[in-house]
Amino acid sequence: MEGLRVATRVGCNGCHGADAAGRSFSKDKDGTLIVAPNLSTRRHLYTDEGLAALLHEGRTHDGHVPFGMPIQAFQHLSHREVRDIVAWMRSLPEVANGSEEASTWSPALAASLADGSHPWMGDMRPTPGNQPAPEPPVEPVALGRHLAMTSCSECHGWDLNGFGDPGAAPSLVVAKAYTDEQFARLMRTGEVAAGGPSATGLMSGVSAFRFSVMSDAEVQALKAYLDGR
Ligand code: HEC
Ligand code: HEC
Repeated sequence: MEGLRVATRVGCNGCHGADAAGRSFSKDKDGTLIVAPNLSTRRHLYTDEGLAALLHEGRTHDGHVPFGMPIQAFQHLSHREVRDIVAWMRSLPEVANGSEEASTWSPALAASLADGSHPWMGDMRPTPGNQPAPEPPVEPVALGRHLAMTSCSECHGWDLNGFGDPGAAPSLVVAKAYTDEQFARLMRTGEVAAGGPSATGLMSGVSAFRFSVMSDAEVQALKAYLDGR
């Protein structure tokens, strides 16, 4: 199903867990517990238009900030991809996994999200004036850019130049050092150009789970865009 393929590439079922049945991250010292909720039970809170508003605008069913969702990346999804993702969500088997239903925010986190002073606010909001396209681009370099913005920017930076944190994902200029063959192998299996898994294993894991769903044409388009930027 195309919806499963798009959802996998952009990471919905990475964060929300297998079958999108929910996943909790570790609890902070201050009591914050981030939960990527069980979509098979929470989807009823959303109309199809409401899901599009969540992905394109960062608007949840009751208007709270979707803390932890990379809306800066999802704002680039075309309307068609959002429809495909919504169809996938609607088709998920309903699973009760007993995990927490929603995140718990410490009072300090809740306050900084409510007054907009949290330093990551911009990650959970679209760029002002963003206009999602009806369809993903067809022209290869434009398609490559689209794939990078929707699939890589969450870790490699909203402009693909890295977030600058030490030890985090580098600027995607690193892809230029890859031959087409090495790049395809990284996307398919997670093996880096130098051989074996990536430094922390994160890139290798994400490639094998998420990017192996890309077609050969998509992998080539992505590489062509990264080489030319
Ligand atoms: C980086 C991790 C991450 C990714 C990727 C991600 N989500 Fe989420 N998602 C979360 C977290 C965390 C929340 C909880 C936000 C909140 O309400 O506090 C959430 C909330 C949601 C909600 C709202 C549930 C509710 O209770 O209102 C929906 C629907 C949702 N995500 C769908 C998706 C879809 C569809 C995708 C893929 C396009 C996706 N998510 C990708 C982490 C993620
Ligand atoms: C979930 C986070 C995440 C996503 C999404 C992601 N990357 Fe990475 N990437 C990393 C990290 C972290 C590294 C550094 C190596 C490591 O520790 O795994 C990396 C390293 C790389 C490298 C260099 C690998 C090496 O050491 O030779 C390339 C090339 C790369 N990423 C390409 C991509 C492309 C292309 C995409 C989108 C299709 C992408 N990445 C999406 C986290 C990510």
